[in-house]
Order: sequence, then structure tokens, then C-alpha cells
Amino acid sequence: MPALFVTFEGPEGCGKTTQVRLLAEWLSARGYDVLATREPGGTRIGEQIRAILLNPAHTEMVPAAEILLFSAARAQIVHEVIIPHLQRGGIVLCDRFADSTLAYQGYGHGLDLNVLRIITAFATAGLTPDITFYLDIPVEEGLRRKAQAGKAEWNRLDQRELAYHQRVQEGYRQLIAAEPARWVLIDARGSIEAVHMQVVREMERRLAVQHGTAR
Ligand SMILES: Nc1ncnc2c1ncn2[C@@H]1O[C@H](COP(=O)(O)OP(=O)(O)O)[C@@H](O)[C@H]1O
Ligand SMILES: [Mg+2]
Repeated sequence: MPALFVTFEGPEGCGKTTQVRLLAEWLSARGYDVLATREPGGTRIGEQIRAILLNPAHTEMVPAAEILLFSAARAQIVHEVIIPHLQRGGIVLCDRFADSTLAYQGYGHGLDLNVLRIITAFATAGLTPDITFYLDIPVEEGLRRKAQAGKAEWNRLDQRELAYHQRVQEGYRQLIAAEPARWVLIDARGSIEAVHMQVVREMERRLAVQHGTAR
């Protein structure tokens, strides 16, 4: 079985959580040992950190605290969950990973990208995804989907102004341009099923390559 670390990135409401669930079901049905998780969270400690980060009452949170909380949750999930599963030859799907830190805290908030890269490398022990799906959608469209999903889906990070979300999206574009082999650009404006089919097509391709080279 191939060890594969797959992450999903993109703006709020682009469909990451939906697509991680569908791909996990698709892989499980084909006998893969798949573990789906999310950032921040995915561990007992990480879920508590997530609650602090997403609490709309925490308006006073400074960017440095935010990045260190994200990184603490990430260190926990990488060491407790992701690395052990990959070592067992499993596939890990992660709803957001280190690229989110660079996009949101770096490009979005203007924190020093080199500092963020160092903190991230420390938190992840240098682990990077094999494949990163970027679910591409206009910022306004994603926010609209979230709003339609109801109030429960809104959190502190969504409340920020549109310009911030646009800086984040531009940041993602630069990250993709810097590492085109890792990123897979998906048009996320279609139906849930249409997006899922694009993801599946790429996974089939990568799994075939992996099986081919394993022999
Ligand atoms: N392709 C799609 N078309 C229309 N609505 C979608 C699509 N994908 C997801 N949604 C809906 O939009 C909302 C946000 O999706 P979600 O998967 O939670 O996005 P994310 O995790 O990226 O914020 C949910 O209510 C979801 O059901
Ligand atoms: Mg989500």
C-alpha cells in the first residue's frame, strides 16, 4: 500500500471539508487505509486549540498568538496522527495544512514568510504533502456558500474583510506557482459531484504511478 499525504487548500466555502469526506469514502471503498483529518484539530489537544482559534469572542487575538496556536495544533497532529499513519503505509487526507499558514498569516496578515516557514518546518518536522488539491473558487462565491450553510458555519476567521480573503487567494497563487508539481488546481465552481470527479481522476493517476513505480 502506498503511503500518501494529501492536503486540501482553498478559500472558505470552496468545499474542502465536503471533498475530503467524499475522497475518504472513495478510497476506503477501494480498500485503501485512509485517515481523514482537519487542521487545526484532529487530536484531543488540537480540537481544544481549534475552539480557541475559531471562537468569535476572541477578537483580541494577535497574529503571533494565532500562528503559534495553529502551529501547536499542527505539531500535535503531525506527530500523533499523520506520521504514524504514513509509516503504516496509509493515506492521510488533511483539510488544510501548512500552506494555510503561509496564505492566511503570511499573505493575509503580512507576517514574515521566512519566519512562518521556519515555525512551520519546526512544527511539521519537515513533513510536506505529496499532493495538494487547490479548490479554486472566487472568494465571494465561497463566502456565499458558507453564509447559505447557516450561522453555525460562520466563525471568527470568516468575519474578516473581503480584501483580506483576496490577499489570501493571491498568496495561494504564488505558492502554487512556486511548486507546480505538488499542487493540483481544481475548478471548484461546479457541483459537489463534478468537483469530486476531478479529484478522483487525479488520485487515480497518482495511485497508478505509485503502484507502477513500486514494482
Ligand atoms: N460544489 C459545491 N457546490 C455548491 N455547494 C457546495 C459545494 N461544495 C460544498 N458546498 C457547500 O458549501 C458549504 C461549504 O462547504 P465546505 O465543504 O464546508 O467548504 P470548506 O470546508 O472549504 O469551507 C457547505 O454547506 C457545502 O455543503
Ligand atoms: Mg471546512
